[in-house]
Amino acid sequence: MKLSNATWPEVETYLKTKNLLIIPIGSTEQHGPTGLIGTDYVTAQALSEAAGEKVGVYVAPPICYGMALHHMAFPGSAALKPSTLLQVVYEIIESFKKHGFKKFVFVNGHGGNIPTVTAAFSEVKSSTDTSVLELINWWRLEEVQAYEKECFGDQNGFHATVGEVALTMHLSPEAFDKIPNTQFKIERPKHHWPMGPSEFRAVFYDGRMESNPGLATKQHGQNIFKIAVETIAHKVRTIAES
Ligand code: NI
Repeated sequence: MKLSNATWPEVETYLKTKNLLIIPIGSTEQHGPTGLIGTDYVTAQALSEAAGEKVGVYVAPPICYGMALHHMAFPGSAALKPSTLLQVVYEIIESFKKHGFKKFVFVNGHGGNIPTVTAAFSEVKSSTDTSVLELINWWRLEEVQAYEKECFGDQNGFHATVGEVALTMHLSPEAFDKIPNTQFKIERPKHHWPMGPSEFRAVFYDGRMESNPGLATKQHGQNIFKIAVETIAHKVRTIAES
């Protein structure tokens, strides 16, 4: 159920019996030489909308930009500073709270967002707030990780992963028509977080982090989609009913 396709009277009616809102959050950033710039928000949005449909809850429009400063040495990336993103997340929650939403499930597609979204939750909770705030990082779901481990072993990696490239192949197949299938050698360079843009590019020169996205297929993407949607829907249903 897309909030963007609802009218305000429909939302008003919804709020008489329900108070949960899913908010997808991702990033606009490089995903290696064969991954899509939109990967992190495209995946978060699609998983959110499918899970929201299953449970019968609204899904807000995605937050398409995130804390991606370390990717800024790669063309096509855009980033919000942590302080900006914190404010964006905080103000979006506060806006929906005013109408009666009380439970917020953020479905996240980007690791760099985690500290900031968590900090924004703390800021919301700094008052007498009684909202329920939950962050679901889809690629960290046990069920997803078990599948990826079984299929990709230690080649899944940490950025431009096999799993996320496969998922975007399933969601945006037409985007891959122009991308040649390429196998990559796994390298595990020493590094230390946090990294600035030039430091990141010097260590992870083509944008991947320890992944071989050449293993990604549409079929794997379809399987991961199904596993992630079921797991997220179950978590959302539990929160909705609690
Ligand atoms: Ni990603």
